[in-house]
Amino acid sequence: MIKITLTINGREVSAAIEPNTLLAGLLREGLALTGTHVACDTSQCGACSVLLDGRSVKSCTMLAAEADGADIVTIEGLATDGVLHPMQAAFHQEHGLQCGFCTPGMVISAIDLANTIPDPTEAEIRAWLKGNICRCTGYQNIVKAINTGAAAMRSAS
Ligand code: FES
Ligand code: FES
Repeated sequence: MIKITLTINGREVSAAIEPNTLLAGLLREGLALTGTHVACDTSQCGACSVLLDGRSVKSCTMLAAEADGADIVTIEGLATDGVLHPMQAAFHQEHGLQCGFCTPGMVISAIDLANTIPDPTEAEIRAWLKGNICRCTGYQNIVKAINTGAAAMRSAS
């Protein structure tokens, strides 16, 4: 076992883990943060995306030990005092989901996009989403939601 300490959704967390524990496993099974979804386990679908020091990473293919000392934000940590993050609100407003399975990863990835490219074009949004798979929506409303969410993040900053 190894001991790691990291910040998760603003709270310092220490955990004793096996060296091969994945970050997704620590979040879901160790900490009951099941909003981080796991589907492909091979870094393709993006459902497991979380923010690590502000950048989107796929927690299914990262060791928890590699996140030692990092600042992690999961979908559960985005709302403040019950108020949705502007990107979450945009997905709600534009109906950027159907079953919702991909949504946590989409929102996390979209926040990273909006922080990296504050005013993304539709082509940039679609290119960014190559790492996130949705089986339901056809992506139209997801793209709309990210456009709306990025605009809201710009005016909030
Ligand atoms: S579960 Fe991690 S990318 Fe699919
Ligand atoms: S909304 Fe169902 S997988 Fe995207």
